[in-house]
Amino acid sequence: MNDLETRRVVLGVSGSVAAYKACELARLLGQAGAAVDVVMTAAGARFVAPLTFQALTGRPVHVSLWDASQENGMAHIDLTRGADALIVAPATADFIARLAHGLADDLLSSLCLARDCPLLVAPALNRQMWEHPATQRNVAQLRNDGVNILGPAAGAQACGEVGAGRMLEAAELFDALVAVCQPKRLAGKRVVLTAGPTYEALDPVRGLTNLSSGRMGFALARACAEAGADVTLIAGPVSLPTPAGVTRVDVQSAQQMRAAVMAQLPTEIFIAVAAVADYRPATVADHKIKKTAARLTLELVATPDILAEVAARPDAPFCVGFAAESRDLAEHAEGKRRAKKLPLVVGNLVQDGMGGDDNVVTLFDAAGAHPLPPGAKPTLARAIVRHIAEMFHAHH
Ligand code: C5P
Repeated sequence: MNDLETRRVVLGVSGSVAAYKACELARLLGQAGAAVDVVMTAAGARFVAPLTFQALTGRPVHVSLWDASQENGMAHIDLTRGADALIVAPATADFIARLAHGLADDLLSSLCLARDCPLLVAPALNRQMWEHPATQRNVAQLRNDGVNILGPAAGAQACGEVGAGRMLEAAELFDALVAVCQPKRLAGKRVVLTAGPTYEALDPVRGLTNLSSGRMGFALARACAEAGADVTLIAGPVSLPTPAGVTRVDVQSAQQMRAAVMAQLPTEIFIAVAAVADYRPATVADHKIKKTAARLTLELVATPDILAEVAARPDAPFCVGFAAESRDLAEHAEGKRRAKKLPLVVGNLVQDGMGGDDNVVTLFDAAGAHPLPPGAKPTLARAIVRHIAEMFHAHH
């Protein structure tokens, strides 16, 4: 389930060789159950025949502002009426310039103005055209206007040059549309998450940490933002880009993570995904520890349990814990849920997920264990958010 089944997407195609990738996008959208209305500029229709899109979508393709066959002659506002998203892929330098200036001299540019659905734009242009200050100015203007600019990617170009300007692949554009079309299950709710490992210093150059990549936590932060929440993500040391629309606070140690979380309270939902170190060195050496003996004993002290502390507060938010185990998942996850008095724990076996792109998770709540179909972390994150939203709304 990718939430596209009941959606209608308008796909705009302007005049670039990357129009061939728009065919694949139309196919992916159709396969996912979305209704796709294709609108082509005159130049777009010189690269791919409208008939190709008509065959792929099973719907008429629109190329003219002056189409008398349209029932009320209002194609320029009818097509985006009630649509869930408008994506222009490919968008040429010329189309981007016209959009930035609000021109409406053909059907597609008119629709870009006459809409209340999100607008996504996937540039496809030659490296120098992309880098030109005029194009950069226009793209900045569009971002400012709330347009979602997707890419472009860098690499070999059809013109023989190498650089930034390639349109993203159809699968990437499809993912962006899935994200935009997510139901706003957490609209207006404030969500705080922790993600990644913590780093507990031993001396100025060494410390204790773990293999958490932060990907599951970042995917959840993104899924919460897609669901309409106001999201703050408190991240341990990871090298991941901040998801769009998410406020990020970077920390290193468990103590810093605790302080950053407490500073965000009260909140409505708290999701503790971080693999917080359970112990830290009792003292941090001021200088690098020297190799002097065959044995070195470290004294460790327990770190604060952030989740347990938040869940025990009188103004506790709806708290979600994670349990990464190497065996006996159900027993440990359910044990943690009871011990920390949490409504929901997401459990996974470390060998299934830690550090990788995919994961296998089971949700544990008062009603029992709910295994989710194995999948990519972003897909799982959306399924987890759906469960959290259902429980949250049932509680409140
Ligand atoms: O008890 P355990 O560490 O396995 O519990 C895991 C859950 O508790 C995770 O949700 C983790 O983010 C959270 N946790 C925490 N602070 C700690 C240890 C774990 O918030 N010090």
